[in-house]
Amino acid sequence: MNARIALLPGDGIGPEVIGSAAAVLETVASRFGHSFTLDSYLVGGVALRDGGVALPDATREACLEADAVLLGAVGDPEFDQAPRERRPETALLQLRQELGVFANLRPAKVWPGMEDGSSLRPELITGLDLLIIRELTGGIYYGEPRGRSDDGLEAFNTMRYSRHEIERIAKVAFESARGRSGRVTSVDKANVLDVSRFWREVVIDVAADYPDVTLEHQLVDSCALLLVSDPKRFDVLLAGNLFGDILSDEAGAVVGSLGLLPSASVGGRGGLFEPVHGSAPDIAGQDRANPAAAIASAAMLLRHALKLGDEASAIEQAIGDALTAGVRTADLGGDPPASCSEMTEAILSRLATPAPR
Ligand code: NAD
Ligand code: IPM
Ligand code: MN
Repeated sequence: MNARIALLPGDGIGPEVIGSAAAVLETVASRFGHSFTLDSYLVGGVALRDGGVALPDATREACLEADAVLLGAVGDPEFDQAPRERRPETALLQLRQELGVFANLRPAKVWPGMEDGSSLRPELITGLDLLIIRELTGGIYYGEPRGRSDDGLEAFNTMRYSRHEIERIAKVAFESARGRSGRVTSVDKANVLDVSRFWREVVIDVAADYPDVTLEHQLVDSCALLLVSDPKRFDVLLAGNLFGDILSDEAGAVVGSLGLLPSASVGGRGGLFEPVHGSAPDIAGQDRANPAAAIASAAMLLRHALKLGDEASAIEQAIGDALTAGVRTADLGGDPPASCSEMTEAILSRLATPAPR
């Protein structure tokens, strides 16, 4: 197959982990006989420094024309005090909206070899396989009105959801649950927020079309607790934009590291694939980042955007094999830790020459 993949390395560790993911895509192309065009574009802080805009037109156009987009991370301390329109993060929010990718799939499973890698006891997490479905183009991230009062003494954002937005993300959750254990937990704050009471109402309406799926509701605060005390009670977690953002970072710690969590944002054009983690300025440029999340995001790209399921599974197998062999970056407790390049090499070699099974 021929496919055009737009690479957006972005800031911090973004270029390091996208370099790894691109090498993995090249290896897949040669092992399986595909041709991937991988072109890189500026986004975030690097784009702001280059031309004063976080999402340049050339990047936007390339993403809209590509079969899929693979992004590293955006965010740079240099712009931490900048107004909204001059922030790296704004580019990512615009891109998600313009691509229309309202459904963000964030799987959090315990990789083979990582059963002892969590801060939780192994028996709590062995076999854990969660899928967080996060609404990505609505809620408080985009709701109007937002901003500051004229006198500068107040600031505000608005958490709002339309019936349509809730229905379409709920359908994604129920459909996903059908291919798994058939359970959806919808996360809200319905004891306090009007928008959450509406969210719950609409999710219950959608559930009527999925009698084979079990639906339960969990308030977000107790969900955060249960995620670290009894994570295996959950299968598919359905959440709005803000709650899904927070719970997915927590899920990273539960399965061992944020550096292991990939994501796929779908429902619109092509698809946007990115690790859950950010630009990690504290370790950027030191060859210490864990490339697994970005590499696993490339696998999700192949599966969801290009329908190359076998190729995606081959990548996931190679990551699991490398972890099982004990190759671990610093965030995974490697002693001595593997560098980003060493971990990438370990995955690439297993992908190029798979172990006999
Ligand atoms: P972060 O996810 O960048 O880092 C949190 C912690 O996890 C840090 O200690 C970091 O070193 C570690 N970490 C993250 N990814 C890792 C990896 N692959 N390997 C090893 N360790 C890893 O979150 P933060 O520090 O709160 O945010 C930094 C910047 O990233 C901010 O500007 C934020 O807005 C941005 N951000 C961007 C994205 C994105 O582009 N999708 C996501 C989250 C945060
Ligand atoms: C994520 C990030 C982003 C978000 C930021 C960088 C805009 O935290 O993808 O989880 O909040 O969605
Ligand atoms: Mn986040």
